[in-house]
Amino acid sequence: MTDNPEGGRPSDDRRQANPEDQVAPNTPIRRGDDDLRVRAAIRNELAIDAPTATQEIRAVAKREAAHKVIALEHVYLAFDEPVLNDVSFDALEGETIAVAGESGTGKSTILKLLLRLLVPDKGQVYIDGEEITKLNFADALKVRQKMGMVFQGAALFDSMTVFENVAYPLREHTKLNDDEIEARVREKLDFVDLDPDKILEQLPSDLSGGMRKRVGIARGMANNPKIMLYDEPTSGLDPLTTATITHLIIKLQKELGVTSVVVTHDIRSAFRMSTKIAVLNEKKICFFGTPEEMAASDDRYLRDFLGGY
Ligand SMILES: Nc1ncnc2c1ncn2[C@@H]1O[C@H](COP(=O)(O)OP(=O)(O)OP(=O)(O)O)[C@@H](O)[C@H]1O
Ligand SMILES: [Mg+2]
Repeated sequence: MTDNPEGGRPSDDRRQANPEDQVAPNTPIRRGDDDLRVRAAIRNELAIDAPTATQEIRAVAKREAAHKVIALEHVYLAFDEPVLNDVSFDALEGETIAVAGESGTGKSTILKLLLRLLVPDKGQVYIDGEEITKLNFADALKVRQKMGMVFQGAALFDSMTVFENVAYPLREHTKLNDDEIEARVREKLDFVDLDPDKILEQLPSDLSGGMRKRVGIARGMANNPKIMLYDEPTSGLDPLTTATITHLIIKLQKELGVTSVVVTHDIRSAFRMSTKIAVLNEKKICFFGTPEEMAASDDRYLRDFLGGY
């Protein structure tokens, strides 16, 4: 196991040795080189951007007055059986917190608590300094407007075009007119690197898995939320597409300064994108710290969880 903050990303020297990275930017393209070149470019971009992004955010987070945008304090929740037992963690402004853990440990439940789709049996949930567990329905809706959600599996409306999908939260929650809505939808599709002219009228079934995730992110960010919540944004994607979605989440953090919680099974992405990682086990947060702290931990469960990574 490496103590590299990028969680095992090869050192610069080793990267030089990788033949895919030796595709120089100005090398004439031969048939078959394209894929190699794209992969090398993305890996290089991630390698350069990711630590820069997280270092900048950590610098902000260290400032004395850093503002807690999200906090769970001593949260207990049971359905038929207890799911969360004294769970606490927080996100300072601009941070990205990854929530990891085995299936069924309560990761999606945590996002539902933040959205106030669920209320804890005990404990507090703070959004932007406001305790939300006791809010009435109308006030809870207002708080929800501060958050953009990217659901597990992208969850687009299959019978609606890309345009209608991204416009949906704008029609529901804003008073923007049709022209303003179209301009906003185009802006968000641009941000996620989709060409609005090509894609606006397509149906989700016309798109690849990666494109659907991008549309899901564009829809999540349509209202310009200050908080983004992602549930498994890279599940079911190939490694290259996973890297591009990870890169997009970093871009949102870096360019728009949003505070994010990302539920993920993909520990490699978590290491790249997050300022801190929370690991759920046995109904509790068994680890909450930086990727570097996680990589350096000799906790038995964490080592098993990280596996060969
Ligand atoms: N509405 C509900 N009613 C009853 N039990 C529920 C409900 N929602 C979740 N649970 C249970 O709570 C536990 C946590 O569920 P949750 O969906 O948060 O897990 P998860 O960590 O997101 O899992 P996965 O990785 O499979 O998505 C599970 O045992 C689940 O069956
Ligand atoms: Mg889940």
